[in-house]
Amino acid sequence: MKPAVIFLGLFLSALHHCAAQSCVNDTFSGDKLYDSCSSLPYLNASLHWNYHPSNGTVDVAYRALQTSDGWVAWAINPNGSGMIGANAFLAFPGSNGAVTVYTTQFSSYGVQPSDVKDENLTFAVYSRESEYSDGYYFTMF
Ligand SMILES: *[C@@H]1O[C@H](CO)[C@@H](O)[C@H](O)[C@H]1NC(C)=O
Ligand SMILES: *[C@@H]1O[C@H](CO)[C@@H](O)[C@H](O)[C@H]1NC(C)=O
Ligand SMILES: *[C@@H]1O[C@H](CO)[C@@H](O)[C@H](O)[C@H]1NC(C)=O
Ligand SMILES: *[C@@H]1O[C@H](CO)[C@@H](O)[C@H](O)[C@H]1NC(C)=O
Ligand SMILES: *[C@@H]1O[C@H](CO)[C@@H](O)[C@H](O)[C@H]1NC(C)=O
Repeated sequence: MKPAVIFLGLFLSALHHCAAQSCVNDTFSGDKLYDSCSSLPYLNASLHWNYHPSNGTVDVAYRALQTSDGWVAWAINPNGSGMIGANAFLAFPGSNGAVTVYTTQFSSYGVQPSDVKDENLTFAVYSRESEYSDGYYFTMF
């Protein structure tokens, strides 16, 4: 649990200054609601989250404009910056037509798609969901 809490402090301090933005009106299936969000206009994306102080967990949703045959990813680096050590969440079209979601750790630069495997992160991930709708990928952890 400790690494997750350390990450969370960094994560929230990096993002909490972004309050009223266009992301506040983003909607999610199942009427999921998130207390906070940050628009990432350069990526045509937004990050949404709820922090639960009672158990030190955070629910995070990433919404990104992408073609249905493309893929999206976002990552957290709990102990440094940059790609090495990053814990990533990926969504891409699966062979069965449904969106596939992976969690993976990057241990080097120049990662090839064929190297990416679904694996545990350095912190616990309690649930994962993803979907593609109206030109956007949604991933929820
Ligand atoms: C969000 O929606 C509300 C209600 O429709 C509107 O008043 C507000 O301007 C919107 N905010 C943004 C940032 O688009
Ligand atoms: C963001 O969306 C605009 C409009 O669809 C597009 O022109 C632009 O290339 C997109 N940017 C990225 C990084 O996908
Ligand atoms: C943490 O607490 C929230 C809010 O009470 C709850 O919805 C969530 O399921 C809890 N998560 C875990 C992993 O216990
Ligand atoms: C961060 O964690 C990764 C993977 O466990 C490790 O390879 C890397 O050396 C760590 N970086 C720092 C700055 O501790
Ligand atoms: C991932 O974590 C779960 C729960 O801790 C464990 O049961 C499982 O064996 C782990 N998987 C791998 C590939 O290490």
